[in-house]
Amino acid sequence: MAYQFVTTITDLPPGAGKLFEVEGHRVALFHLNGSFHAMDDICTHEEASLAEGRVDGETVECPWHGALFNIKTGAALTMPAVTPVRTYAVKVEGDRVLVDVAI
Ligand code: FES
Repeated sequence: MAYQFVTTITDLPPGAGKLFEVEGHRVALFHLNGSFHAMDDICTHEEASLAEGRVDGETVECPWHGALFNIKTGAALTMPAVTPVRTYAVKVEGDRVLVDVAI
């Protein structure tokens, strides 16, 4: 597998998350003040979309029941989620943001 283009830097402002479909995976991509991070979009508690969660620093809050996840590591930080979400490799080439769901 290889890196796939998902968006441009200018289309995802700092502090925002957005859902992308990458090779059959629902990927939540977040922009944290110049760095980009990708994780599975589906919350490990039930099935909320983490791309729709509120971003605060390096954490995203699940929109359904409020579990916090670390955006960089995928770690589940608070109940009711206890299982981390998978993270994916991201790289930036110029203005292009690419994700590899195989890494
Ligand atoms: S679905 Fe995310 S905390 Fe319940």
